[in-house]
Amino acid sequence: MDVNKITNRIQAKEYKIGIIGLGYVGLPLLWTFHKVGFDMIGFDIDEHKIECLADGTPYIKHLDQEMMGKLAESDRAEGTTDFSRVSEVDAVLICVPTPLDEHREPDMTYVEKTVETVAPHVKEGQLFVLESTTWPGTTEELIVPMLEEGSGLDAEEDLLVAYSPEREDPGNRDFKTDKIPKVVGGHTQEALDVACELYESAVVESVPVTDTKTAEAVKLTENIFRSVNIALVNELKMVFSKMDIDVHEVEDAAATKPFGFMKFTPGPGLGGHCIPIDPFYLTWKAREYNENTRFIELSGEINTSMPQYVIDQTIIALNAHQKALNGSKILVLGLAYKPDVDDMRESPSFRIMDLLEEYSADVYYYDHYLPVIPESREHGYWTGTESVSWDKETISDFDAVVISTDHSDIDYRQLADWNDCIVDARNAMKDVEPRSEKHIFKA
Ligand SMILES: NC(=O)c1ccc[n+]([C@@H]2O[C@H](COP(=O)([O-])OP(=O)(O)OC[C@H]3O[C@@H](n4cnc5c(N)ncnc54)[C@H](O)[C@@H]3O)[C@@H](O)[C@H]2O)c1
Repeated sequence: MDVNKITNRIQAKEYKIGIIGLGYVGLPLLWTFHKVGFDMIGFDIDEHKIECLADGTPYIKHLDQEMMGKLAESDRAEGTTDFSRVSEVDAVLICVPTPLDEHREPDMTYVEKTVETVAPHVKEGQLFVLESTTWPGTTEELIVPMLEEGSGLDAEEDLLVAYSPEREDPGNRDFKTDKIPKVVGGHTQEALDVACELYESAVVESVPVTDTKTAEAVKLTENIFRSVNIALVNELKMVFSKMDIDVHEVEDAAATKPFGFMKFTPGPGLGGHCIPIDPFYLTWKAREYNENTRFIELSGEINTSMPQYVIDQTIIALNAHQKALNGSKILVLGLAYKPDVDDMRESPSFRIMDLLEEYSADVYYYDHYLPVIPESREHGYWTGTESVSWDKETISDFDAVVISTDHSDIDYRQLADWNDCIVDARNAMKDVEPRSEKHIFKA
């Protein structure tokens, strides 16, 4: 394999790239490479996404809405559900889901299906990079054997196989895909060199590591770090609250220390496709080595208990108004797992709504990012439920409003004017003076 020739083609942008899985990660990645001049093919099993790519209809709200129009007009980008066209590209970057199954174990079926489908179409010299989050060892133990079997090629001699975790932070305006360094591990030195060259042509920096399993471990470490620290600050919130100390004030003041402290923000529990899930990929793999992951288990336990804490605070708030949760009309404000996105995967808002139902409350939600609750595997019960409207008459009619997501374009002063009992799990009301002790409750 002539690595120099491949490198020259990358530098000349004569290298065609295929992205498999055009979701929250794959779509911005396709755009990132397209922007700097590469020819792109996007692959997905979801025909709707391919149609959107062709006619320029945005399907992920927080992304640059003009992007879809530009991609649709471009003669350097197209989408397809025909996976045999993998043979037309030089590099294949895989960004398909890696959720947990019902036993909270890694569900690798999306990755396996992808590799199985494309392997017969893989050609000599092609670069093949998994970007999905996964357990250390996936590339060597799963991807390489599957690719070799399906293609009849040798992964060391004929192919370039690498792993590079996606570190996308949807909605983060300061760090879009091209501003986030790419960690890269190669199955061979050639694979590492070519993958680094490719990423460096579109993103700020590539960070080569020893091998693919190290790169896989980097991603899990980043997310375990977040999960553990969020659990810690959630625990501190509950303890300090009993002492009548505001954890947010403590965190802000502690964050003035210029070294040795990093601020984390408490909330109603973990959400999103990454932090509640990825740590358990390591827990699962560690069992093979007879190792326990106690920090991961403990932080999982604390974080999953947070919605119940929000409910407890809601009961206290209603009690102050001589009301019971049973029969009360409750608004959950914000369905998305974090502000200013339409991603509701693993959102703690759903657990809060489920618990409110279990306590026989009358449950509604407001979220302008999710006007109707779309179909999902986990929250089928709520599918089709519509957001209430944002007006004084509607909002003042609720016995309590539980703030579960702090979207930045909500007028929290208006909310305070309209409703008498607000339970704030996000510190969204920090700048609003409560009318009385019974007005705004921290959760
Ligand atoms: N969303 C994030 O913020 C984020 C951040 C970092 C890493 N990740 C990781 O990136 C990976 C992708 O996550 P995402 O959020 O983009 O998921 P997503 O659900 O938004 O997108 C995945 C896409 O893959 C498609 N798909 C599913 N099976 C397929 C198949 N067999 N062939 C082709 N396409 C298929 C789906 O239709 C969907 O469009 C996951 O491993 C995730 O853990 C996600």
